[in-house]
Amino acid sequence: MAAGQSQLKMPILNIEEVYKIYQSEKTETIALRGVSMTIYPGEKVALIGPSGAGKSTLVNISAGLLPPTSGKIFWSGISRDISRLSPEQIVRARRKFAGLVFQETKLIPHLNVVQNVKLGGHLAGMENKEIDERCDMLVDLVGLSERKKHRPGMLSGGEKQRVALAAALITNPKLVIADEVTASLDPLTGEHVLDVLDEINRELGVALLLATHAQQVASRAERTIEIEDGVILATHDSNIRLRDLAGTRRLAVDNQNRISIPEDMMKILDNPKNLKAQLVGQQIHLSLPTTELYEPTKVHTCKVCGTLVESGSRVCKECGVVVT
Ligand SMILES: Nc1ncnc2c1ncn2[C@@H]1O[C@H](COP(=O)(O)OP(=O)(O)OP(=O)(O)O)[C@@H](O)[C@H]1O
Ligand SMILES: [Mg+2]
Repeated sequence: MAAGQSQLKMPILNIEEVYKIYQSEKTETIALRGVSMTIYPGEKVALIGPSGAGKSTLVNISAGLLPPTSGKIFWSGISRDISRLSPEQIVRARRKFAGLVFQETKLIPHLNVVQNVKLGGHLAGMENKEIDERCDMLVDLVGLSERKKHRPGMLSGGEKQRVALAAALITNPKLVIADEVTASLDPLTGEHVLDVLDEINRELGVALLLATHAQQVASRAERTIEIEDGVILATHDSNIRLRDLAGTRRLAVDNQNRISIPEDMMKILDNPKNLKAQLVGQQIHLSLPTTELYEPTKVHTCKVCGTLVESGSRVCKECGVVVT
């Protein structure tokens, strides 16, 4: 879908200023720091970033599986921020909103393909006739018409993933949210699963939000969101190359006009603590300053006599006490 076209439509997912802090007794991890993200109907969006960047946290929050510490999440068709709903209300609303697919499929081992696909429809209280029709259409779409009576244990990894996709779509959701959908598959099997996802997008108009480390997944996205250290660093249009992100990167500007400079660029510049910014026509030029900024010397106060002691020297010149 062209970018201009998507802007005319109402988003199906809108995330505003989401923070997520995982707290345990001893540690606190800030996994998301003020993330805002919008997904439009029918879009194919990849979410990329290094391990620990916050991709799974963001997809789980988008899917209503994890509550944010703060911030708002809006799903199309629901007027309220879904993080304010009860778990039961979220489960009910999610059926119409999104189908979820993970690296490890969550199929029921003693149910066959058709039973696994239909299960979510029964749980959602859909009519049997509609469940049967959708199941037939979906099993056909994912190419498993010949395997209807097979249990998950009798299927290959790629086939299981395709059953999981059909099962995720039984309630006719608007979006598929997937985390590392090809990570446990070999590249060729992964390609087949991605072909099916493309077909779901094309034939059914379902939007895709795919968190991934894989080039083969990102290659198919129309838009890629790059996340680093819990912040949306940049977006990319299609034809992204994970080995050369700088080639397509558009740095994101957040609500407070802040941008994050990618770690790889900062490393090349030897991690400067400040940069000179100049507006040249319509361009902002960032460069290393030629002169050092005056940085005030750090000082400590001697606890005994109150004299200021430079941080390099540990002993107070006035009273000889060791300053810590
Ligand atoms: N349940 C949890 N409790 C505490 N910290 C967590 C929890 N889940 C994730 N984290 C931390 O939050 C940060 C983001 O994790 P997340 O799983 O979202 O990253 P990711 O981008 O999906 O990484 P990967 O590519 O390895 O899957 C990491 O520092 C991680 O250690
Ligand atoms: Mg992850």
